[in-house]
Amino acid sequence: MDRRTFLEAVAGLLGLPFSQIAHWEHPAPPPRPTEEEDFWAWVRSEFPLHPSLLNLNNGGVSPHPRPVLEALFRLELAANEAPAYVMWRLQDQKEPLRSRLAALCGADPEEIALVRNSTEALETVIFGLNLRAGDEVVLAESDYPSMIAAWKQREAREGVRLRWVRLPLPTDDEEALLRPYLEALTPKTRVIHLTHLINWTGQIVPVERLTTEARKRGIFTLVDAAHSFAHVPVDFHAWGCDAAGVSLHKWLCAPFGTGLLYLRKERIPDIWPLFAAPADRPPTDIRKFEHLGTRSIPTEQAIAAAIDFHEQIGQARKTERFFQLRRYWLREALTLPRVRSLTPDRLAAGLATIAVEGWTPQKLADYLLEKHRILVAAIDWAGLQGIRITPHLYTRLAELDRLLEALKKLP
Ligand SMILES: Cc1ncc(COP(=O)(O)O)c(C=O)c1O
Repeated sequence: MDRRTFLEAVAGLLGLPFSQIAHWEHPAPPPRPTEEEDFWAWVRSEFPLHPSLLNLNNGGVSPHPRPVLEALFRLELAANEAPAYVMWRLQDQKEPLRSRLAALCGADPEEIALVRNSTEALETVIFGLNLRAGDEVVLAESDYPSMIAAWKQREAREGVRLRWVRLPLPTDDEEALLRPYLEALTPKTRVIHLTHLINWTGQIVPVERLTTEARKRGIFTLVDAAHSFAHVPVDFHAWGCDAAGVSLHKWLCAPFGTGLLYLRKERIPDIWPLFAAPADRPPTDIRKFEHLGTRSIPTEQAIAAAIDFHEQIGQARKTERFFQLRRYWLREALTLPRVRSLTPDRLAAGLATIAVEGWTPQKLADYLLEKHRILVAAIDWAGLQGIRITPHLYTRLAELDRLLEALKKLP
């Protein structure tokens, strides 16, 4: 059986044109309702949601809309017909994905590596940088625990010195966010690690001013953008950072276990890959970070369907909706006497955290789940204590009313 006949046979079994076996072909977008809430009702209809749970913890990980699930299933089915052939010879097409992802985050395709999550992206850089004992790394107490653990491992193993910053959270004052970082810099500082959109509270830390200062001093900047991509506009060239890590299974709604590593072109040779690349791969090639071994190509390729879905809505409209959802419930919640916000008004986007007097975060999260079937995240890190509410594109305003009712009735 020749290649084409084989593919047509596989495609026939799946009821697909054979081109869909090799990669995800974009289906024609459904007609978009014109009225705003009708539009969001259509968006919601694309998500297969839990029948009895109000999920307001989309910050941890997001569900996939139907086109992503379909792409995933079909690619997976096709791959299983003959994995070594279909997956490796036909489906593994990283270059179009690389270009599309680069276009979404102000990068050159040659600066984007496909990885499994932010942890892999950021730890590739944390462990891949050449540092010596006594070199200093500036990071915040409110950074993500896995990255803090990675830096602490370098501290314990190699004597890299960690200089901790405490940010005045929450704040809409950009200077106040910048100052602690600048005060922590010394002639020995080699790296600034910072989180752009802080997962605990949704606080946004403006990156550009800090990278400008860092560049003047020859300091490497690594940005944790796990929550930023497809949530708020991201432009790595404009940000001026050297490296960044992104999770695509959060705000892009791509398959679980997808992420990207951004490395400014000139910095690629400076970073060792976590999984050693073959000797014929030049040190300047971003693909050296993709030498992982066997991974799910269907999972990776279904990112294309998530990009299609994202582009159908558009970044500006998404960001505006996230702001609208957050402000809708938070303003009302703040009229309650025991509620206090840990999230600023301007330097934030879709997620927000509140503290409720008399309730520990875990107790309140458990109560909302058990009593009202509302899922939220309990936050207790770096002195930040509260419950984090993360709606997503599919969340309806009436559901946020349910949350508000539950808060009003708290014993
Ligand atoms: C700020 C931040 N960084 C990194 C991560 C890790 O992301 P992942 O689990 O996708 O690697 C998260 C996860 O929530 C996060 O919030």
